[in-house]
Amino acid sequence: MAAKRSIQYVCSECGHSEVKWSGKCPSCGTWNSMEEFRESPARNGKTASASHRSHRIPSASSPSRPPANHPSALSLSELNAGEGLRFSTGQPEFDRVLGGGFIHGSTVLLGGEPGIGKSTLMLQTAALAGRRTLYIAGEESPKQIKSRANRLGIGDRDIRISSETTLSEILAVLDSEQPELLIIDSVQTLWDEETASPPGAPTQLRRCSFALSEWCRLNEATAVFIAHVTKEGMIAGPKILEHMVDAVLYFEQSEQDLRFLRIPKNRFGTTDEIGLFSMGQEGLQSVSDPTGLFFVQREDPLPAGITTTPVYEGSRVLMVEIQALTVASAGGSPRTYSDRIDPRRISRIAAVIEKHVGLRFSDQDIYINVAGGIRINEVAVDLALAIALYSARTGMPCPAHTSCTGEISLAGEVRPVSHLMKRLTAAKDLGISTCIGPAAARRGEQVDQQYLRVENLKQAIHALMKHSPMEKPVP
Ligand code: TYD
Ligand code: MG
Repeated sequence: MAAKRSIQYVCSECGHSEVKWSGKCPSCGTWNSMEEFRESPARNGKTASASHRSHRIPSASSPSRPPANHPSALSLSELNAGEGLRFSTGQPEFDRVLGGGFIHGSTVLLGGEPGIGKSTLMLQTAALAGRRTLYIAGEESPKQIKSRANRLGIGDRDIRISSETTLSEILAVLDSEQPELLIIDSVQTLWDEETASPPGAPTQLRRCSFALSEWCRLNEATAVFIAHVTKEGMIAGPKILEHMVDAVLYFEQSEQDLRFLRIPKNRFGTTDEIGLFSMGQEGLQSVSDPTGLFFVQREDPLPAGITTTPVYEGSRVLMVEIQALTVASAGGSPRTYSDRIDPRRISRIAAVIEKHVGLRFSDQDIYINVAGGIRINEVAVDLALAIALYSARTGMPCPAHTSCTGEISLAGEVRPVSHLMKRLTAAKDLGISTCIGPAAARRGEQVDQQYLRVENLKQAIHALMKHSPMEKPVP
């Protein structure tokens, strides 16, 4: 008897799914976009297109299983999750982001703009991880891949390359190659003959990545789906895959050759870490000590609107320079511009200064930049943001070799930050002689004499700029 298939209707525009068909997508409102999608076959170990496939069950991490067609369960005590759970990518920064390497049997989505270096990163990984790897090359010919591999100095490695893009053929190649690492470059080129939509459409992406993920899960192989995204973010197609995979990685460009690898979703680890790479003539290199990478050494007098702060990214400190500019708003409705720090956070800090220090921002357009192109999410940047805004608005520069750190409450208080000692040490190593921060250091944190403790924003401005707010009216 044929296996029962669950039918869903998936919107070809936004990827939203419903169990009942409707003429209009309830999520994005597009008419006639709901397409039929059948998702059951791979669940019990057989896909419609590849019912012949084998299942390699590694003995190291799981005990023997009953035949695939019998529903079964295992005792938790029988399972051994610890040993051989992960394998290294061969690149310290990639391992750092993943939490120590790839998990066997997991699925990863790697997104980024075209040309950012996704194919380069994964080809390097194929060579450096030292695992049996199958590279599905849907975008480039095997010759082009070989030429890139030669450029990277890995042209002699035994990386298996296939140009197949139809699901049934890829599954057949998987059965014969039995890889430990599967790289799909890119997921937008995959195509299942049983689905009417073109490659890249949500129903195709869903069906193909689901079947490939199932093969990998059952065979304890790791799958990396490469996906192109636009500048505005994930396009509708790959976005739906975010829910299906175990980890989502984004590759982004900073200024010049620097690349950031972020992990907004990580089922097996933290999402805090970022990986830093530099793209050179021989591919991507891990940046081993990025503490001072974004730091700009300056001497007095500094331009107004500039200050420095130690930010805690993942498990390490980066010294960054915050730059602020304020100009009278022309249109009457002032705006805040920044692609480095959330503009809502900036507006909130400007409102706190206006309220508690008496410096007007509500008629100003505000621009905030972070030197080097890094985006900052952590709250400890608040005080530096406030100091940079104050300096920009008053025209009074901060002294060189000073830094500040602290979260700011709506009441204008400077609140404690995590890892204060690590921040101060990083600042000191880069020649910062004075640091201003919260008076209430966290328990166990002994700070040295160059640290000026402040309770609130007014005290911070006074300590750093040797100036009492409102001494001199600002036009
Ligand atoms: P690529 O990996 O093809 O990007 P994606 O797969 O994200 O589209 O990277 C292409 C860019 O990287 C291209 O501009 C050339 C550059 N590059 C280097 O600078 N050095 C190198 O060693 C390699 C292989 C590529
Ligand atoms: Mg590519």
